Amino acid sequence: MELKLCGIVQDFGRKRILDHVSFTMVPGIYGLLGPNGTGKTTLMRILSDVLQPTGGKVLLDGMDKSELNDQYRAQLGYLPQELGMYNHFTARKFLHYIAALKGLSKEEADERIEDLAKTVNLENELDKKCGKYSGGMKRRLGIMQAMLNNPRILILDEPTVGLDPMERVRFRNFLTEIASERIVLLSTHIVSDIDHTAKQVLLMKQGQLLRQGTIGELTSPLRGEVWQAVVPDRQLARIAEKGIVVNMQQAEGGLDLRVVSKEAPCDSAVAAEPCLEDVYMSIFQTMTPESDDRLAKSAIAKVFKRGGIAR
Ligand SMILES: Nc1ncnc2c1ncn2[C@@H]1O[C@H](COP(=O)(O)OP(=O)(O)OP(=O)(O)O)[C@@H](O)[C@H]1O
Ligand SMILES: [Mg+2]
Repeated sequence: MELKLCGIVQDFGRKRILDHVSFTMVPGIYGLLGPNGTGKTTLMRILSDVLQPTGGKVLLDGMDKSELNDQYRAQLGYLPQELGMYNHFTARKFLHYIAALKGLSKEEADERIEDLAKTVNLENELDKKCGKYSGGMKRRLGIMQAMLNNPRILILDEPTVGLDPMERVRFRNFLTEIASERIVLLSTHIVSDIDHTAKQVLLMKQGQLLRQGTIGELTSPLRGEVWQAVVPDRQLARIAEKGIVVNMQQAEGGLDLRVVSKEAPCDSAVAAEPCLEDVYMSIFQTMTPESDDRLAKSAIAKVFKRGGIAR
């Protein structure tokens, strides 16, 4: 199975939201990362056949999505970023309603609901009203409704929002389990959601696909350029000038910094193994010099606020 996006363009009015996005997916997990407003949801709505793009094509095994029509939709599961639910429906009734829309028989639906509820840990909650569900439960119910028709293509727009750490791990394991024979595209702002499981990571910026590759392919250019150092607070400004501070936390003796920089940013710095978060932070901070500057200033401001700077 192969799902191919060819030069997808989306304009809203005079604004170009997606600018010739092309990539190919085969079974496995694909993680879509990018700042707010980059076009991730728009791209997923196009793939889910909710939105017709201004230009470009989506091909499933070489056949145009718009020609496949119902045949395409039958293979698709979609969790929108904001899924509307009927608050006065019980979860079970809501799922039966969606199952009917997807053309499942009552018996098929019963069986699927039973199975999926175990997977997402909602089996004892199905007779509660959707309106009484917590944020994380709603998200899990959303994942269930996307999976009802056992789709071969699964499009999940921020599926892990609101999930507690345990549910997040459960969900990640579940995706890994099902992805061997399915194409799973998921967007997230949490790098660890896809860090160890994604076959490929797609990094988007302002409507364009900036980078695409395995975690190894994306992180290897940063090898030898990621540093860890504990420094006195007053050294922060100088280090922020030398490199990109991608993480910072309080530590005994000052600040524990993670810095991306071609050379060691200070004498005490030790090299660290690059991770996806380093790639993300270094890309999105260096692209706009002002934002880099802003980050450094805000980091410094934080230290000042704590009164931590020795002068
Ligand atoms: N129907 C629409 N009409 C006009 N503009 C839209 C429409 N849908 C999205 N946009 C604009 O397209 C841009 C991309 O939005 P989109 O929701 O795809 O971003 P996103 O990457 O999913 O962001 P987030 O991480 O916040 O979910 C935004 O500037 C948004 O305002
Ligand atoms: Mg979105």
